[in-house]
Amino acid sequence: MDTNSLYEDNSSGQVAPACRIVIPKSCCLVIFGASGDLAQRKLIPAIYRLFRQRLLPRGFFVLGVARTEMDSNRFRELMAEGLRETFPEECNENCWRDFSSRLHYRSIDYRDSESFRTNLTEVLPSLEEAAGTGGDRIFYLATPPVVYEDIITTLHQSGLATQAGSSVKLVIEKPFGHDLESSRNLDAILLEAFRESQVYRIDHYLAKETVQNILMFRFANSLFEPLWNRRYIDHVQITAAETIGIERRAGYYEEAGVLRDMFQNHMFQLLSLMAMEPPSLFSADLVRDEKAKVLHSIRPFPLERLEDCVVTGQYAGSVSAGIKGYREEAGVAADSPLPTYAALKVWIDNWRWNGVPFYLRSGKRLKRRTTEIAIHFRPVPHMMFSQTMGGRIEANTLILQVQPDEGIHLEVQAKNPGSRMCLMPVSLDFHYPREFSLSAYERVLLDCMEGDQMLFVREDGVGQSWSLLTPLITALEARNVPAETYLYEAGSEGPAAAAALLEKDGRSWRPL
Ligand code: BG6
Repeated sequence: MDTNSLYEDNSSGQVAPACRIVIPKSCCLVIFGASGDLAQRKLIPAIYRLFRQRLLPRGFFVLGVARTEMDSNRFRELMAEGLRETFPEECNENCWRDFSSRLHYRSIDYRDSESFRTNLTEVLPSLEEAAGTGGDRIFYLATPPVVYEDIITTLHQSGLATQAGSSVKLVIEKPFGHDLESSRNLDAILLEAFRESQVYRIDHYLAKETVQNILMFRFANSLFEPLWNRRYIDHVQITAAETIGIERRAGYYEEAGVLRDMFQNHMFQLLSLMAMEPPSLFSADLVRDEKAKVLHSIRPFPLERLEDCVVTGQYAGSVSAGIKGYREEAGVAADSPLPTYAALKVWIDNWRWNGVPFYLRSGKRLKRRTTEIAIHFRPVPHMMFSQTMGGRIEANTLILQVQPDEGIHLEVQAKNPGSRMCLMPVSLDFHYPREFSLSAYERVLLDCMEGDQMLFVREDGVGQSWSLLTPLITALEARNVPAETYLYEAGSEGPAAAAALLEKDGRSWRPL
């Protein structure tokens, strides 16, 4: 491994951040589904940007494979179009020419081991020799999940899942199954072919700098950790609100809905990072052990009293804003019951969090785009100002803002300047000062090349969150919710019933 200190020149006397960039070992990346949207708009642009920043190993190439018939030249043109659309400012002709010579393509039938033999097994060694990559390989499944099983099985049968003396990894995108049973089946197929240490399940939220910062912030400062428990925290709100609708993904979303799309993965990952115990070392498995323990401690949802723990909703159109309702989107059934919004009340049954509710909400077509964790502290124990000022003093809130406007805000009370005794809420703010150097896909690709599984989800994490959500989803699907509590207007804060979920507890959501 070449290591390359980001801040080698320290002649200015500035204190260098404790941060190193590691250039991974040479390898090749085989992308299944390479003719699709994900490869064109996310993966290839991310690899190209790594290449431009000189973060890729010297020996490196991409072999794209998919069912579509085309040659490598056409593949390069397609990928160049994708880059021009996603990062027009990054297109540099010389750099692209150099980079695109490392892109190759073969069409392949995912079920046919003969097709694997001629288009993959026999092709890879000559490309590897020409590029000097050695034998390390990464297989990336950028296909619709329906073909995961075929690809994994054929990789296994073709003998490509292992290679003596070299590393072979498999990267897989969510959704990891549709429910508990299908996720277990997928894992059984995966683990028949690969060892868990070879499998990299992507949750792109974990690769966001601000999500990783939750751990740094908690465990590298002594200030907050003593307060991080039931004695000082009243409740926690985790929000992932989007302004966009389902875009062109009706086919997928009609099978998923918000609980599978956002909660099974991103929301539960945010929750477990916020609530986990400190591991003894910052290592992938120890961190993932602690996260798994949080998921294991979540109290099963009370299915006989769903109204106490969950509210779902679906966006209706907004005529004034010219926005279509979910059921009017192309590809969505006119009577689709799928929720595009959910709010959950979650209890974690352990010593640290006993009695502290975690309220989670996520939805599409809401008023504002924001992803944040808001930690609401308990109010002061005695209101000594109540006689002079009356009214209620707002308790402190710490907000870990994941996106946009990435940063940390601590809301406290301070004296309002002037002669009157009067308090006003003020915010102590930290904003990340610059663009992040690595996007989420760049981060996960680099980590996978380096063999660092910290930002990837382990089998037990996936299984446990499905164990919690599957009974809830089944119970919700079996019940008839009155339309007036279900539909919410596009551009609003979500269904009115979601506000009631907190009001019952004498609390309210932070406004969007
Ligand atoms: C994806 C979901 O995993 O995350 C999408 O499938 C959602 O429905 C997206 O829009 C949100 O990601 P981000 O990074 O924009 O918050």
